[in-house]
Order: sequence, then C-alpha cells, then structure tokens
Amino acid sequence: MPPFRLILASALLGLSVAPSVLSTFTPGFPYGSEKVRGVNLGGWLVLEPWITPSLFDNTGNKSIVDEWTFGQYQNRDAAESALQAHWNTWITEEDFANIAAAGLNHVRLPIGYWAFEVGPGEPYIQGQLPYLQKAVTWAGKHGLKVIVDLHGAPGSQNGFDNSGQRLEFPGWHSNATNVARTDAIIKTIGSMFANQTDIVPIIAPLNEPAGFDGAAVLKTTKQYWLDSYKNIRNPGGSSQQSNTVVLIHDAFQPRSYWEGFETAPDYTGVAMDTHIYQVFSNADVAMSHQDHINAACSTNLTGFDLWLIVGEWSPAPTDCATYLNGRGIGARYDGSFSGSTRVGSCTGLTGSASTFSSSYKTFLRQFWEAQVISYEKGDGWLQWTWKAESADDWSYQAGLANGWIPQDPTDLMYPNICG
Ligand SMILES: *[C@@H]1O[C@H](CO)[C@@H](O)[C@H](O)[C@H]1NC(C)=O
Ligand SMILES: *[C@@H]1O[C@H](CO)[C@@H](O)[C@H](O)[C@H]1NC(C)=O
Ligand SMILES: *[C@@H]1O[C@H](CO)[C@@H](O)[C@H](O)[C@H]1NC(C)=O
Ligand SMILES: *[C@@H]1O[C@H](CO)[C@@H](O)[C@H](O)[C@H]1NC(C)=O
Repeated sequence: MPPFRLILASALLGLSVAPSVLSTFTPGFPYGSEKVRGVNLGGWLVLEPWITPSLFDNTGNKSIVDEWTFGQYQNRDAAESALQAHWNTWITEEDFANIAAAGLNHVRLPIGYWAFEVGPGEPYIQGQLPYLQKAVTWAGKHGLKVIVDLHGAPGSQNGFDNSGQRLEFPGWHSNATNVARTDAIIKTIGSMFANQTDIVPIIAPLNEPAGFDGAAVLKTTKQYWLDSYKNIRNPGGSSQQSNTVVLIHDAFQPRSYWEGFETAPDYTGVAMDTHIYQVFSNADVAMSHQDHINAACSTNLTGFDLWLIVGEWSPAPTDCATYLNGRGIGARYDGSFSGSTRVGSCTGLTGSASTFSSSYKTFLRQFWEAQVISYEKGDGWLQWTWKAESADDWSYQAGLANGWIPQDPTDLMYPNICG
C-alpha cells in the first residue's frame, strides 16, 4: 500500500473542479429529503473492550481497560502488532460491500485524536490513518457515504472507555490546550475531505461530550461547535467554503436546549446527532419488552430546526453484553453492576444468536422496526454497531444473518407496530 500522503494527494488531484467561492451549499447527500440509513463501524479504529473482548483478554492484564492502557501496560511491540492485526481484519472491503448490499447508505467511522497526533507522555499507538483512507476508498467504490467521527479528544470528553481513556471525570473541556489540539485536528480532517464531499459529506467534530457533567462541559462544547463549524467549512481559512455538513452531538441535552443554535440563515448545513439507548440505567433495564417498544414509538424527532440524525442506537434491550459497562464491570440486568437490582439472568440475551429463543428474536425484530419507524420521522439513523465479537444483540451483521434485521431496511414486517 502506498503511503497515506500519496493516496490523499492522488484523490485530491483527481478532482478537477474547485469548490466555488460560496454562494450555494450543496451537500454530498440530500439530508432532509432522503433518510440516513446506516451503521457504525465501532471498535475498529478506536478500541472498545465490549466489541472486541478478546483483544483485551489476550493481554492477560486486567488493568488494560481502554486504548490508553492498551498502549501503557504491555510490551509496545506486542500492543502494536495486535493493533495492526486488528485493523487489518476487523473491517475489510467486504464489510463495505455487505453494508451496501444491506440497503444502507452511510457508515459512521469513529477515530481518535491519537491517529493524528500524540502528545508527550500519552501512550497511544498510531497507525490508524491509512485505514481511514482505505475506508473512504472502499465506501466510494460501494456507493456508501462516510461520517468521519472524532470519537476521542485529548483529556477525554466524557471519560468513557470508548473515548480512548476511561476516567472518573473527563479532562478535555477544562484544559484549553486539549481543546486547541482538538480544533487543529478537526481542521485537518476538514481539509482532508473537503474535496471529497461526494463520499465524506459530513464530519462529526466530537462524539458525546459529557454535558451531564455540568455547565463547564457545555460551555466548552458550545464554543467548540462554533469553532468546528469554521474549521470544517473553511479549513483553509480563506473565503473558499467546503460543502461538508457539520454533525454536532446534543451532549445529552434535550432538544429544547439547542433550539436556535447554529441555525439558518447564519449557519448552513448543520445537523444534530442524538444517541438513544434504553439500557444504561436501572429503570431502563427493568422495562418489559412492550415498554421498550412503546418508548421507541413515543420518541419524537419532529419539529427541530436542524437535521436530526440518530447516530447511535441498538435493538439490545439489556446491558448484558460482556464489558459493555467497562472491562471488569458487570451488568445492571443481572445485578452484577454495583448499585443495580437484578432483573434476571443474562443467559440467552447476548453472546451468540444461536442461544436466542425465537420469541426473543421476534422481539428484537419488533424493537428494531419500532425504532427505525420513529427515527425516520427525523432524518434517519445509524445503528451501533456493524459487528461485535460476542454480542449479537448489538450486531447489525448478526441481525441480518439471523432474521431480526431485514435484508432491505425498508422491508418491515410490523409496519403498524407504533399504531
Ligand atoms: C499490568 O498493569 C499494571 C498496572 O496496573 C502494571 O503495573 C503491570 O506491570 C502490568 N503487568 C504486566 C505483566 O505487564
Ligand atoms: C492540559 O493538557 C495538556 C495536554 O493537552 C497537558 O500537557 C497539560 O499539562 C494540561 N494542563 C493542565 C493544567 O492539566
Ligand atoms: C480542493 O481542490 C482544489 C483544486 O482542485 C484546490 O485548489 C483546493 O485547495 C482544494 N481544497 C482543499 C481544502 O484541499
Ligand atoms: C414533537 O415535538 C415537536 C417539537 O417540540 C412538537 O411541535 C410536536 O407537537 C411534537 N409531536 C408530538 C406528537 O408530541
């Protein structure tokens, strides 16, 4: 494979028309008139213990709980070769072909800041960027659109293991150096794809900033969204504008919080990303199957002033998947999570679909369809996630193979499930 810079250069040179000095904004996908239907490529360029538990178990060190400690607490060569093998195999061109064949139009691709630069004392291992470029090439070949999603910022924007670093309290928002580093990376990502908006029509400047951690996080996040708009739309700092849509996350705040933020006519081409799960509280996992379907049906995504995309959701009704709440942390559903009340056994609810009863698979199909119906009242959806080593309840690929996800996402078996 040629070096990354060469691939990028040839991709840019292949384009003969310079973007106009902006008058009209023309996104590479007709957001608002066509529904986004897609999957996340979770656990590939950003490790997540629950998506690939074997990568973590194979280290033999229980202190390795995220990508930071993956680089910190083991032999560097061993870590690097494990990562290279993972990047080469977890997602390949065949996955892009299968995703397109399943009638989907988008993939959302999480990547960490450390793919772009690693600061002193940060143990991250690099090498992800050539795979980002391959992914874009494969997407172009198979007619898929890519959402490039910055999933981890310096200091961590949420303290989740999926930000790269599992922390008690996030450290991104309170440190101006961290934010400035993130701004620079977004500018880099913006310029990388400004001339390829037919394949990368949309960039998500930061996944899930922890708005629930208080006003300081929200204040930094709002300023960061304003700066990201400029960094994505004008990565060169000139009057030349890109046609890239900016996908900002709601930081776990209600729609009302964001009313009027980055709206027309001052801003164009901004979309809001919201993530909807029904498994991360004691009350959520205690819900009956019918409760889960009702909650999906009553989700209201209409009437918002930006395009509204459900960038993460899942048909899983429990938090049973191994390491879902973090490596070494149990599940609320079976009471093994500290402070939870047992609802029942996790057996037959996660792991291999071969252990799922036919009534559970029927429920997964109904819950999947109820969510798709609801989320298409907004501007569309991307399921979390395309594949998982041993959590078929979360895997789009397993849903296709085992019948709770239709081969064509518009081919509903329960079109009236929401009444
Ligand atoms: C496992 O991680 C710990 C940090 O908690 C580290 O001190 C130790 O050296 C690691 N063990 C091995 C075998 O690398
Ligand atoms: C802020 O973050 C940078 C890394 O981005 C780090 O070098 C610096 O020590 C941090 N400052 C404080 C006050 O924690
Ligand atoms: C896009 O390509 C044009 C030439 O085709 C070039 O002038 C421009 O700088 C490129 N923009 C970016 C952001 O790379
Ligand atoms: C959905 O939310 C919008 C915006 O807040 C509101 O106008 C509309 O009435 C709501 N629809 C339902 C069915 O609640």
